[in-house]
Amino acid sequence: MVQVEYELRDGHPMPAFGLGTWALRGSRCTTIVKRAIELGYKHIDTADMYGNHEAVGKALKGFDRSTIFLTSKVQPRRLRYQDVIQDCNRSLRELGTEYLDLYLIHWPNERIPIQETLRAFNELVDAGKVRSIGVSNFTIRHLHDALQAEDHPLTNNQVRFHPYDYDQDLLEFCQRQHIVVTAYSPLGRGRILHNATIRDLASKYRRTAAQICLRWCLQKGTIVIPKTSSEARLKENMDLFDWKIAADDMTALDAPT
Ligand SMILES: NC(=O)c1ccc[n+]([C@@H]2O[C@H](COP(=O)([O-])OP(=O)(O)OC[C@H]3O[C@@H](n4cnc5c(N)ncnc54)[C@H](OP(=O)(O)O)[C@@H]3O)[C@@H](O)[C@H]2O)c1
Repeated sequence: MVQVEYELRDGHPMPAFGLGTWALRGSRCTTIVKRAIELGYKHIDTADMYGNHEAVGKALKGFDRSTIFLTSKVQPRRLRYQDVIQDCNRSLRELGTEYLDLYLIHWPNERIPIQETLRAFNELVDAGKVRSIGVSNFTIRHLHDALQAEDHPLTNNQVRFHPYDYDQDLLEFCQRQHIVVTAYSPLGRGRILHNATIRDLASKYRRTAAQICLRWCLQKGTIVIPKTSSEARLKENMDLFDWKIAADDMTALDAPT
């Protein structure tokens, strides 16, 4: 069943749909994030690496912070204890917020022990600067290590996920551990939208190819965070919740041609 919101392992709610902001910068980023929130987006995904914290922060001004779920990520070369604390504090300043709803390790870095990074993450939770913690681009092996070191629960694994990049084993492992998966690049960065299976299903359901991809992710039980720099596509991408893809078509999308 498609959820509008997930309850994370730590009890906090997380909206199943949000806006990705990779490659959005400056005033264009501010305009799009602001417009998205006006349209009803409740979840914004950013990262230190995207260089757009200030632009996102400007967009958040004027809205009730408690109604927005805000995710950011620490860079993989900055996973030492002191670096994490320093970078999180800087990110909060740049975003103009007192707390992040979710803070993720952007990529694993095996040169830095995960225990050290998670010690900093746990302190940020205890200090009220971060509500929930998680990881991104973690494989099952990385997750095994991280789960052994966790104190506050790891709630989320953000990974590339779309019909042409479907790792069922990883998804099922996360689901067994009650780690919610967030699908990034759910549109394959726009490159999979002309593919035959997706196009055929789009005409069958009278939906767009993008909506077919996003709805497939939601029905797999993931969160989706498509990025767009177009106001029209903001609306298109959020129109996902009052229709569904039938089971046999879901199967066709699992291994599309
Ligand atoms: N954790 C990580 O390592 C990681 C890595 C990559 C991404 N992410 C996150 O995930 C978010 C989404 O992934 P992504 O940006 O890589 O790719 P994506 O959302 O799969 O695709 C974005 C591309 O698709 C186009 N697009 C959006 N909506 C469309 C529609 N309805 N019809 C046709 N084209 C459409 C966009 O163009 P226009 O802008 O012109 O609409 C853009 O070129 C990122 O923005 C970021 O927040 C995380």
